[in-house]
Amino acid sequence: MKYRILGRTGLRVSAVGLGTMVHAGHFGPMDDRESLSAIETAMDLGVNFIDTSDAYGAGYSETLLGQALRGKRDKIVLATKGGNVMVGPDRGKRNFTPDYIERVMDESLKRLQTDYVDLYQLHNPTVDVIERGDVWEVLERAKKAGKIRHYGVSINTIEEGIVAVNDGRSDAVQLEYNLLAQEPAEKIFPLAQKANVGIIARVPLRRGILTGKLTAADDGRFQGEDVRARSFKGEPFRRELEKAEQLRFLVDRNIQTFAQAAIAFCLAHPAVSTTIPGARNAQQMRENAAGADVTIPPEHLQRLDELWHGSLSS
Ligand SMILES: NC(=O)c1ccc[n+]([C@@H]2O[C@H](COP(=O)([O-])OP(=O)(O)OC[C@H]3O[C@@H](n4cnc5c(N)ncnc54)[C@H](OP(=O)(O)O)[C@@H]3O)[C@@H](O)[C@H]2O)c1
Repeated sequence: MKYRILGRTGLRVSAVGLGTMVHAGHFGPMDDRESLSAIETAMDLGVNFIDTSDAYGAGYSETLLGQALRGKRDKIVLATKGGNVMVGPDRGKRNFTPDYIERVMDESLKRLQTDYVDLYQLHNPTVDVIERGDVWEVLERAKKAGKIRHYGVSINTIEEGIVAVNDGRSDAVQLEYNLLAQEPAEKIFPLAQKANVGIIARVPLRRGILTGKLTAADDGRFQGEDVRARSFKGEPFRRELEKAEQLRFLVDRNIQTFAQAAIAFCLAHPAVSTTIPGARNAQQMRENAAGADVTIPPEHLQRLDELWHGSLSS
């Protein structure tokens, strides 16, 4: 495994990390034994950055991770998030009030069976929360109390990312960045590099589209609570598959799988400290971790750039 520094946090993180949303059943039903084998395999391979949230399965992912990390906590750079209400009458709303974040942070620590997390992220805060929220004082207090080592945000829009970096309080920004979502490279990464803000590139496999395993036959296959239920159908899904098809040239003698090419793409940008593909089992984890060992050749990066400014962005 290769390691990079997560911006001004100074944390040494594996270039390929692990996202644990899948372990809470957001990509269809999960078997805990498979989730635990993915986490164990990650650690065996030197993956030390693991990302979760209290929102994944309303705490389920954190609880499972807490079990998996028993006795190994100090080997992991652990990141979680708070701010999305997952139970009770406000389920589905966001809450970044100081009292709420103070409470859910303690609950996360309990589920994770640890006294501290290395990175606490506000989970999808709005521009208003980032700029004017009084939640930051809570985070600073928690840092002084040793409950969190660093704090940052996980954001959805380019505007939120720019505001978070410019605001100056986030030591790290987590955002979607992949072959089909390259906007941050132009609009956020240069600012982040200047401010030494760590970038965590999430959804590197575009939820499976960039593994090459999905086809038109999967249109509408994902149902219910599956995160793919809304977007993996109809015209938008067909367009995504078409775009992915144009990227198959990345698989060649040096890069053997599409997933590894997608991961290598994220790591090709020096602003990215780590990328956090989800892995449902040990086999996926092994394939994803090996993405840190391959490099996209310059001529392919050049072709990617042309595609991004052409047919990929239309
Ligand atoms: N707002 C936020 O803060 C936010 C939002 C989204 C994600 N995240 C974070 O980012 C992480 C990653 O995002 P994600 O899990 O949504 O998307 P992703 O990493 O792009 O895709 C993960 C999914 O792709 C499939 N997959 C993974 N490795 C594979 C391989 N080697 N071969 C074939 N299929 C493979 C698995 O699903 P199947 O096996 O079912 O196909 C897996 O669940 C999350 O776990 C979470 O930590 C944060």
